[in-house]
Amino acid sequence: MSFLTWLFGKQSKNAADSIQVADPVLRVDNLYMLPRHMQEVNRLDFQHYMLRTAFQANYLAPISNPITVLDVACGTGRWMLDVAQDFPSASITGIDLAPPDPATSKISFPASCRFLQGNIIKGLPFDDQSFDFVHQRFLVLALPLQYWEADIRELVRVTRSGGWLELVEADLEFHNQGSAGTRLYSWIEQASQQRGIDVTIGRKIETFARTAGLTHVSEHKVEIPMGNWGGRIGSMLATDFSTAVIAIKPLVTSTLKIDSQEYDYTLQTWLQECEQLHATYDFTIVYGQRS
Ligand SMILES: C[S@@+](CC[C@H](N)C(=O)[O-])C[C@H]1O[C@@H](n2cnc3c(N)ncnc32)[C@H](O)[C@@H]1O
Repeated sequence: MSFLTWLFGKQSKNAADSIQVADPVLRVDNLYMLPRHMQEVNRLDFQHYMLRTAFQANYLAPISNPITVLDVACGTGRWMLDVAQDFPSASITGIDLAPPDPATSKISFPASCRFLQGNIIKGLPFDDQSFDFVHQRFLVLALPLQYWEADIRELVRVTRSGGWLELVEADLEFHNQGSAGTRLYSWIEQASQQRGIDVTIGRKIETFARTAGLTHVSEHKVEIPMGNWGGRIGSMLATDFSTAVIAIKPLVTSTLKIDSQEYDYTLQTWLQECEQLHATYDFTIVYGQRS
């Protein structure tokens, strides 16, 4: 089976048209912008491996032998699985609007991993200072700007004194972007704004972390090439992002009344521009310690 067949499923030729936004959680909360079908599950897993390759680590915070770890918005749980292997005696908790069901997940989770259903906007169901290490990655298309400060305060609340919090986020703007990329970015930004979502959140999380009272706050930018011109990691990022742009298509085209073919053409032109202009993308990692 080719990689693209695995990622998109059998209907890869018309993957964009096959995606339906028929997601009960999305309908209830109506904020998270990406769907939860199998292509998206596969994309998140693939994205995890791409980030691990690019960062050369599962986390950057200077943690050592945590006993309790929390992953907020844990998605498919791939990060938790890796961290469970790094720290076999740690107890790892994942919380998400739609966490994986270990009984049916294609991942075989060790007994040290447990999953809870929860909405970070409503707060976390844990006592103060419950975790040695708290991690949250990619809520950029889920949390409206008005909730971010409270979200990070809540993450700090459940981090124990001396423990670490790490945030990984995206800022959806590229370096060396052409006109199709600028157009696509503008569409995603406009559709996000209509939900109160700020696609530049990656630029703000360091300030939020400091405001929430963390010490030793450190921000890192990891720049990744976008496209085959950048070798294996560049091809991986292009696959990841083009899949995400296809996944978000129903929401963006219906919100902004954009023609389906125009959207697809802009996506293809953007991918060509990334090759010609040597586009790159920055991921932002911020970590800090609770005093
Ligand atoms: C882009 S995925 C990232 C998943 C995972 N952190 C990763 O890096 O692979 C975003 C995740 O956030 C979850 N999510 C969205 N809004 C949420 C909320 N308000 N509370 C908890 N989880 C949320 C979604 O269900 C989804 O699994």
